[in-house]
Amino acid sequence: MQNNNPIGIFDSGIGGTSIWQEIHHLLPGESTIYLADSKNAPYGQKSKEEIIALSEKNTEYLLNMNSKLIVVACNTATTNAIKELREKYDVPFIGIEPAIKPAALNSTTQTIGVLATRGTLSSDLFNKAVAVHHQTKIIEQVGHGLVQLIENGDIDSPEMNELLQTYLTPMIEANIDYLVLGCSHYPYLIPQIKKILPAHIKIIDSGEAVARQTRNILQEKVGFSNAKVVKNVFYTNAAPKVLNDILNNSYEVLFKDF
Ligand code: DGL
Repeated sequence: MQNNNPIGIFDSGIGGTSIWQEIHHLLPGESTIYLADSKNAPYGQKSKEEIIALSEKNTEYLLNMNSKLIVVACNTATTNAIKELREKYDVPFIGIEPAIKPAALNSTTQTIGVLATRGTLSSDLFNKAVAVHHQTKIIEQVGHGLVQLIENGDIDSPEMNELLQTYLTPMIEANIDYLVLGCSHYPYLIPQIKKILPAHIKIIDSGEAVARQTRNILQEKVGFSNAKVVKNVFYTNAAPKVLNDILNNSYEVLFKDF
């Protein structure tokens, strides 16, 4: 099966580029269109209805550009809206959820930490996953303020360090041996997080799993591209500088008021 249309990817902002990197790494022959809805970030504090409406807007934008598959590169949008998206649109969706399962299965202290947005931690989808792993103690922490700092380009700042210290210290004291990054913005914080966590605590996120699942769905249902020219285009509806910076100025970044 062959399909040369692009893979569409959206997030509330620049964070989902961490997922895009994994997809691009695994599927370098695929063209991609990435939407950073930074004008509306953060999604994590919004109501379920607002998150669904924004996710529909992004999906329609990507479908208008002939996306053959849509990756919801945002835990908050996945856990609040993917069911509604799948019901409404006739295109395969891949979502991202906090990687509780591998953390719970591999934890030897039976205690894991999850750092995510309020929207993700309060969603039914997340709480169902927590209920399945009731034998594991799961310390949940909302990452208030982290997405805004990343969107402002303040990843390596004293404010960031202070927030991370506040959120991670209780988890360290509770003896976690896994930290689950439940927001696609947070992989960009791994260097700072590593400075705070003792070395034995493992950090996991879902980026690789999403890329593998994307490959599986292309193989089973949609088709891979065999186009000679691969295009990776990034759209943002806010100032493009931070998106350009996070991509090392290596890709085409366009401003569009979607
Ligand atoms: N990248 C989004 C996520 O994975 C960030 C959410 C937000 O905008 O608050 O949840």
